[in-house]
Amino acid sequence: MSIERQLFYQKIAQTTSSPIGLEISSAKGCYLYTPEGKPYIDLISGVAVSNIGHCHPRVVEAVQKQAAQYMHLMVYGEYIQSPQVQYAELLTSFLPANLDNIYYVNSGSEAVEGALKLAKRFTGRAEIVHTTNAYHGSTHGAISLMGNEEFRYAFRPLLPNTRAIRFNNIDDLELITEQTACVILDPLQSENGLVLPTNEYLLQLRKKCTQVGALLIFDEVQTGFGRTGSMFYFQQTVVPDILVIAKAMGGGMPIGAFVSSKEIMNTLTFNPILGHITTFGGHPVSCAAALESLKIISEENLHVLANDKGKRFEDALKDYDKLKSIRRQGLFLACDLESEEVYWKLLDRFLHNGLVTDSFLYKLNSFRIAPPLTITDQEIDEAIYLVKKSLDEI
Ligand SMILES: Cc1ncc(COP(=O)(O)O)c(C=O)c1O
Repeated sequence: MSIERQLFYQKIAQTTSSPIGLEISSAKGCYLYTPEGKPYIDLISGVAVSNIGHCHPRVVEAVQKQAAQYMHLMVYGEYIQSPQVQYAELLTSFLPANLDNIYYVNSGSEAVEGALKLAKRFTGRAEIVHTTNAYHGSTHGAISLMGNEEFRYAFRPLLPNTRAIRFNNIDDLELITEQTACVILDPLQSENGLVLPTNEYLLQLRKKCTQVGALLIFDEVQTGFGRTGSMFYFQQTVVPDILVIAKAMGGGMPIGAFVSSKEIMNTLTFNPILGHITTFGGHPVSCAAALESLKIISEENLHVLANDKGKRFEDALKDYDKLKSIRRQGLFLACDLESEEVYWKLLDRFLHNGLVTDSFLYKLNSFRIAPPLTITDQEIDEAIYLVKKSLDEI
């Protein structure tokens, strides 16, 4: 075992007893490389992060330039910093008029926390409604909204006044009332194995929230920045009151945000002041990377091309007898296998054949195909060949 591998197991806190354990020395585009030079096609984009591929030269340049100019100057919100301002202007140009004000944080969970606080503050209400089988992050607030008891019972007591409704169930919308501050949902249920909402459900949900004065929060931490065939998934459905983003936002750098209207966001500014604060939120180097990344997605039309690329995978794999079923939105596919046991066998073959993927938190018999949006047709065909080869070997 290499010294670094030993140190990884001894000194770095582990989240499971079976990490993937790949040793990577460099990454470029859709590929990860081991110290021995073995290439792996990244079918998960570091879990919804590397939408423009690894180490995009324009992002690397933007990071280097900004790091040489200034890094951290002051806690969030005090100084005028060009990368923050420019990013806010560009991002909001892709969003509807009610999403014109951005609060920068460092991660998806933190953005969820900020969004919940904002909804409580704006409405003066305490109840938070969430959906079953949702995943919103790992902080206390976020796990209070996890629709799966297995991952949260050990950390109780959690946030009070939370209420679960069944995803895609129109009858349960009755449970949203004038006591409800907000309804938060991951509109595509990524960690539930890509469960797609019906349009009617989202329309009725939007209507109900407006009717009772509850804010609708869409957690697009995983679905944002072109993954689903539009810049954000909500652009194919209904408009939320608060949008939560992170992951692919930074083009590989850590950053997150919650976005709302100036009117709603203002409630964090007064009575008390400092309603939400962060030291590193909107770090200038992360904002510079985010700015370049967003320009790349829009200039190269990656969000629009995602659908054809996803379809190329789907068409090639949908009738493959080793796969039970496939769900897809844009360039995000969930491929179901016979059982979890088959998944583990397949993962072993994938790694052997030079592919990386992952299952879903709540769906362990399914694997993801969600490579960088920059993947070429030739790379897609290579990945399809390796997926089929691996399936044939189990
Ligand atoms: C939908 C969703 N929300 C929130 C989070 C939490 O983001 P982070 O891990 O950056 O805290 C995740 C992470 O996987 C996610 O998928």
